[in-house]
Amino acid sequence: MQRTPTSQSPIGIFDSGVGGLTVLKAMQKLLPSEKLLYFGDTARVPYGPKSQVTIRRYAEDDTRILLRHQPKMIIVACNTVSALALDVVEKTADPLPVLGVLEAGADLAVEVTRNRRIGVIGTQATVCSNAYAYAINKANPDIEVFSTACPLFVPLAEEGMLNHEATRLIAQQYLAPLLAERIDTLVLGCTHYPILRAVIEETAGSGVQIIDSAEAVAQRAASMLGSTGMEASRTEATLPHLMVSDLPQKFSTLYHLFMNASVPDVELVEV
Ligand code: DGL
Repeated sequence: MQRTPTSQSPIGIFDSGVGGLTVLKAMQKLLPSEKLLYFGDTARVPYGPKSQVTIRRYAEDDTRILLRHQPKMIIVACNTVSALALDVVEKTADPLPVLGVLEAGADLAVEVTRNRRIGVIGTQATVCSNAYAYAINKANPDIEVFSTACPLFVPLAEEGMLNHEATRLIAQQYLAPLLAERIDTLVLGCTHYPILRAVIEETAGSGVQIIDSAEAVAQRAASMLGSTGMEASRTEATLPHLMVSDLPQKFSTLYHLFMNASVPDVELVEV
């Protein structure tokens, strides 16, 4: 039975694995007083190559895990779930507000592009869903969207290969067709990709603006909390509550590497 959330309730964030840490990091920076809950479905990552039916089932399970902790808001820190199963999360969490990374990133890209040629990189499921092109063209039908799936980026991020020669070569291969289209804006349409941002940015070159949907969704969360009077009033920052469905030790190592912070306990939960 869900209690009515208060402003002091936590914000629940989930992803298929470590990718959502990019959202956690952006949230910590923007909203240091908020208590954050994070679930990474490390037993079932990656979601990107799976079918819509499976992704929707996982999305419901992930939401239920967060609901056990009575959050005041849910952030879907996974583009794949945002593209294919946001309605499942909304229905499962109802009446809690739910924010997905996808729309926030799409809207920011529309604001930033000058030549109206936007590149989007994401998982196979996200790219096949066409959800980014839809969201971008809903905001501005004159923009051309060029998308490509970068499935190898997820394991490279999960393995912590942030500044590796292999990552660089793969990035060159993936980005070449988008750069040939003269894009001036590139959306990192998978929350794992900002972990590899340095290499992606270097490959794309200085003429291409990188859009990190993690930062965009954190800004949306802040304005939603502000407009509904639900911001937490804590003065001291608290450590996030981390949960994973497998390999907590590996998650701790990646957390340390990516967040550059000491790692709170990681709870192992069953899905
Ligand atoms: N981080 C995820 C996303 O934003 C998914 C990666 C995966 O599980 O394939 O789409």
